[in-house]
Amino acid sequence: MTTSPPTKLSTIAILGGTGKEGPGLAMRWASAGYAIIIGSRQLEKAQATAADINAKLNMDRVSGLENSDAARSADIAVLTVVQSAHQAAVEGLRDALQGKILIDATARVDFRAPRPPEQPSAARIAQDILGPGVKVVAAYQNVPAGALKKDLGQPMDVDVLVCADEVQAAETVMQLTQAAGMHAYYAGSLDNAIVVEGLTSILISMNKYYGGHSAAIRITGIQQP
Ligand SMILES: NC(=O)c1ccc[n+]([C@@H]2O[C@H](COP(=O)([O-])OP(=O)(O)OC[C@H]3O[C@@H](n4cnc5c(N)ncnc54)[C@H](OP(=O)(O)O)[C@@H]3O)[C@@H](O)[C@H]2O)c1
Repeated sequence: MTTSPPTKLSTIAILGGTGKEGPGLAMRWASAGYAIIIGSRQLEKAQATAADINAKLNMDRVSGLENSDAARSADIAVLTVVQSAHQAAVEGLRDALQGKILIDATARVDFRAPRPPEQPSAARIAQDILGPGVKVVAAYQNVPAGALKKDLGQPMDVDVLVCADEVQAAETVMQLTQAAGMHAYYAGSLDNAIVVEGLTSILISMNKYYGGHSAAIRITGIQQP
């Protein structure tokens, strides 16, 4: 696990960070020294989740704001709203996200009846809505919420495929991902993210067959620098 984050630590907003996926990411980055803003549609809910995380970590690095304020106050935002609200949420955050990187974790898969989503990828939809002023990066669609919250400070047994049209934005996200204890691999443009979303359908199907909640992926055959 990379323990030395970049010299100037980014502030990370987790939009829809009050659910299952967002708090685990928040805890991992807060543990690595990043300032975190939990976003919610309701200020009080964001503040309650932030207070809960601070209490668990015995620190004061996590705050809570309404989603738009969280996006405006951060250097980088992560979208973890429930998948059915993806498009409307991105539309509502268009102005607040200008000039930022948006990491889109959306996997539009119904866990009761998993099947691959239709093209284009959620991240491509977000990029089209947000326009060129926002750099959308797709990541974490395959990272189980439960695994994020276990063994904080330890490397996770999970790899992350990072898709973006701009390699530099992907590399920023790969660095953040390493700081959270996961290996990250650049995996091509935002259009490739449809395959990563589809992998979530496979992983959920495997969880159902084998029993469990934590199926994830590992990459072999690539030597990282
Ligand atoms: N759960 C996983 O293991 C997992 C793994 C990988 C990727 N993902 C992806 O991560 C995202 C979040 O998943 P999750 O399991 O954390 O979802 P979730 O717990 O069901 O919901 C996350 C948050 O979405 C917000 N939300 C609900 N309805 C909304 C609406 N109509 N408009 C705007 N926001 C709304 C809520 O926040 P407020 O009420 O506070 O606004 C809620 O706390 C999804 O796209 C999912 O595909 C999840």
